[in-house]
Amino acid sequence: MTTLSCFIAGLPKAELHLHIEGTLEPAMMLRLAERNRQPQPFPDVETAEKAYRFNDLQSFLDIYYRSTEVLVTEEDFYDLTLAYLEKAASQNVRHAEIFFDPQAHTARGIAFATVLRGMEQACTQAHRQLGISTRLIMCILRHLSEQEGMAMLHEATRWKRWITGIGLDSSERGNPPSKFRNLYREARREGFLLTAHAGEEGTAASVKETLDLLHVDRIDHGVRCMDDPALVEELVRRAVPLTVCPLSNVKLRVFGNMQEHNLKAMLEKGLHVTLNSDDPAYFGGYVNENFTAAAEALELSFSDIVRLAENSFNASMLSIVQKKIHLLELADYARRPAPGN
Ligand code: HPA
Ligand code: ZN
Repeated sequence: MTTLSCFIAGLPKAELHLHIEGTLEPAMMLRLAERNRQPQPFPDVETAEKAYRFNDLQSFLDIYYRSTEVLVTEEDFYDLTLAYLEKAASQNVRHAEIFFDPQAHTARGIAFATVLRGMEQACTQAHRQLGISTRLIMCILRHLSEQEGMAMLHEATRWKRWITGIGLDSSERGNPPSKFRNLYREARREGFLLTAHAGEEGTAASVKETLDLLHVDRIDHGVRCMDDPALVEELVRRAVPLTVCPLSNVKLRVFGNMQEHNLKAMLEKGLHVTLNSDDPAYFGGYVNENFTAAAEALELSFSDIVRLAENSFNASMLSIVQKKIHLLELADYARRPAPGN
């Protein structure tokens, strides 16, 4: 391990952009398919991994939704969530805000309660045994209608104790934020924290519209905001967090390679950037691999890395007191001499 990756490995951090369905590793996918007597999406792990070559967001989503079909029982959602939380805790993630896509499951006849109970049990157990805290963010699939999304929101209001936020994911192209204006208005009225994917395959205008029409608390990805200097200024002034996912962006060809990623430029502009793994089973790494890949390609400094971790706690849905506890631990870690020095 290099000095840098060693420092990243020990760094206390929060993960704020993580789709639980995107943590379905090929080996678990095959195991669950067998357990549930479902058709195998892929005959073996090697074939699954070979299929993970994407040209864009849609080619990824096609495989991602197909693979989720192996998730059927409460135990499946429990196993999936616990496996992610164990991995995250091993990477010194102290707090994780987890997206889930209920519409990908209810459309197949899986009850909303099955998904939520399985996830919640894993979160409770991981908190008790590993000390990692969690929040759940229910994502609305933007390729479906606002009316269908609204039905999910009504379901979520019955589970408010377990669901903290509402997000928006799936195909950005052709599904603008304006399509979900009423849903976000209602979600805000219900007291959910709000986030939405924007400026991933969409443009800076999509980020601007997400801010202006949906009144989100943060933006997921948002990397295309850099094409609009006035928007960058507004995001900095309003301290809107952006949950950036470098390995995802390279895999889905938002950037040609990691050297071309604009993360460093975003930090230099003063944007409130956090670093996350998005769909780690598909994009080649969990949060620490994202930190390391970005840090090496973009020559991030130790203080850039610490700032990303600081931002992750500040941008989270934790209370002020909880944030402070994590930030103190982080400051203590950052003060220690870098490993190898
Ligand atoms: N973008 C949009 N939708 C998604 C993603 C993503 O990166 N991952 C899972 N659903
Ligand atoms: Zn995402």
